[in-house]
Amino acid sequence: MTTPAPGRRRLFVKTWGCQMNVYDSGRMADVLAPLGYVPVETPEGADMVILNTCHIREKASEKLFSELGRLRALKQAKEQGGERMVLAVAGCVAQAEGSEITARAPYVDIVLGPQSYHRLPEMVARASRAAGAVIETDFPAEQKFDHLPEAAAPQGTIAFLTIQEGCDKFCSFCVVPYTRGAEYSRPAAAVLAEARRLVAQGAREIALLGQNVNAWHGVAPPGAPTFESPDGRAWGLGRLLREMAGIEGLARLRYTTSHPRDFMSPGDDDLIAAHGEIPALMPFLHLPVQSGSDRMLRAMNRGHTAADYLRIADRLRAARPDLALSSDFIAGHPGETEADHQATLDLIRQIGFAQAFSFKYSARPGTPAAGAPLQVAESDKDRRLQEIQALLRDQQDAFNRSRLGLSCDVLFTGPGRHPGQVAGRSPWLQPVHAEGPASLAGQVLPCRVTAIHPNSLSVRVLARDEPVAPPAGPPGDPQQEKEAA
Ligand code: 5AD
Ligand code: SF4
Repeated sequence: MTTPAPGRRRLFVKTWGCQMNVYDSGRMADVLAPLGYVPVETPEGADMVILNTCHIREKASEKLFSELGRLRALKQAKEQGGERMVLAVAGCVAQAEGSEITARAPYVDIVLGPQSYHRLPEMVARASRAAGAVIETDFPAEQKFDHLPEAAAPQGTIAFLTIQEGCDKFCSFCVVPYTRGAEYSRPAAAVLAEARRLVAQGAREIALLGQNVNAWHGVAPPGAPTFESPDGRAWGLGRLLREMAGIEGLARLRYTTSHPRDFMSPGDDDLIAAHGEIPALMPFLHLPVQSGSDRMLRAMNRGHTAADYLRIADRLRAARPDLALSSDFIAGHPGETEADHQATLDLIRQIGFAQAFSFKYSARPGTPAAGAPLQVAESDKDRRLQEIQALLRDQQDAFNRSRLGLSCDVLFTGPGRHPGQVAGRSPWLQPVHAEGPASLAGQVLPCRVTAIHPNSLSVRVLARDEPVAPPAGPPGDPQQEKEAA
């Protein structure tokens, strides 16, 4: 971020929620750049403020309205000085609660849903003429991607690239199908072109993003052979990853977030195989399971059982033995009994997660679970969440400890927190730091893990002729963890 030159306009974007929102915020800044908007780090004095919201769990609208209250004062101060601040609310809360926003905060100029970002310049122009708010909450994702500018601001060593949006799965608890719309996959050629641009701008690692990223089935590039799709027109994600791995200069690939169901049909075998065949595909996968109880998985409309999940984990680890898993869990979905909760703890013990997120169920208006009978008492939700988190924390610690003394490649990304340190990421997405110059940023170097901290690892860059330690065994292997501890 920079201080704008005279005549330039200041754009402040605040982002809540997932990586897809972070990516969207970047693209909104890209569409506004030709209008002279330059990103700044604080809202004070900004000519435009965008709040990019997330609706997935509760308190989203309270957070938004308290932020809007603060911004209203800044907007008024700017107007008293004879200037204008355009205030926009974007993202999933805008999509779900557009009319409430304009009613409760009439000083908001623009309300736009996640599929309308390409129309921002036109909306800014309309807002400067309009008396009331300009609202856009249409759905078609194709248009957005077709109309966003090609030239994006560089993202750095690790870059994000949205390849899929929306969701058709309708889990009982989730607002995403309502706020992000139906599943849409970007064509392979557009994805590959964007990936090449990101690498040309200095990216060494690309994380492909999508709400159901492993459901991606993009139209094949013109003239390219297709392998996976019954209609012969689409590629699957395995094929895309193989193609991306061939981009010169790109060292690492990841994809997130996946759904177990999209690993279950025979057509998905290629993606599982890709984990064993593409060294650049990092051995870490975020695969939410939500619950370990088949009864709850059915109530959640997940379309898979606990045994399906265990089978997928086994197959992925057979393809890539050092693969580590991460997941999401919900404690206290309506109807969840103590036995269901114990089944979740059992599944966690059986898998051995390297990391995970867990949440207390929160009723989202308009979703089937919100109106379901047998809502779980708040105190039970709290206790179950604590039990899940304690177990997951132990597993994360054990996983981190199991890396001690091992060597692994590290992608360095920039200066560390302390002088003389350089920061980076392990293959398992752990933050690492080493003694060394920040000029190592952009390099992938073999390192030895020398110390484990609660949220990071210390590593030492191996000398050129130093032997590397044997590669890590399967994570979550209790025997290995005992030996490492
Ligand atoms: N309550 C609690 N957690 C939720 N998630 C989604 N909706 C809800 C809800 N209503 C969690 C799921 C999902 C993650 C992104 O957020 O675990 O995987
Ligand atoms: Fe939400 Fe389920 Fe779709 Fe994930 S798969 S985005 S949890 S509805």
